[in-house]
Amino acid sequence: MQSNTERKNTERIAVVPEYLEIIDDLITHPKVLSMSNYIQHSDCTTLDHCICVSYFSYLSAIKAGGNGRACARGGLLHDMYLYDWHRTKPPRGGLHGFVHPLIAAETAAGIFDLTELEKEIILVHMWPLTLRPPMSKEALIVSMTDKYCAAAEIFRLDYEKRRTVAETVIAYAKEHTDLQ
Ligand SMILES: [Fe+2]
Ligand SMILES: [Fe+2]
Repeated sequence: MQSNTERKNTERIAVVPEYLEIIDDLITHPKVLSMSNYIQHSDCTTLDHCICVSYFSYLSAIKAGGNGRACARGGLLHDMYLYDWHRTKPPRGGLHGFVHPLIAAETAAGIFDLTELEKEIILVHMWPLTLRPPMSKEALIVSMTDKYCAAAEIFRLDYEKRRTVAETVIAYAKEHTDLQ
């Protein structure tokens, strides 16, 4: 018989189709998919990490009566800084933890039309490390979900659940682009 921890680690979940529609234009963009070239934590790429933050934030926002769309989109782009933070210093200098939200927001805003709420979600996700606090329910949800996902990646918690979400979303992206 499985223990609670084992059961949690092998639990798989389905991705709701509404979520895939919301992120369709983002997840099929080559720059977003290029986050798979960088490791975030353990064996998890930055793309895997952003998908998990995006999807679990989306589900929490819907439950809390918040803006699920903004959480899904802001969450997917929140770490779009496009370098390997383990080996490379941020292109503009400074410490990665402090400067990457601004780099991600500028990179994402250079490609996509972001709403003010989506920009806020990206800019404040590292709070309280960066001083500007979340001023919306959605930014707070993404910031908290980011911390949960980072801890889960480092300590390999909820492994199958995170893995199946990332794999489902990446398979969807591949089906809807010419990229392999
Ligand atoms: Fe981040
Ligand atoms: Fe993150």
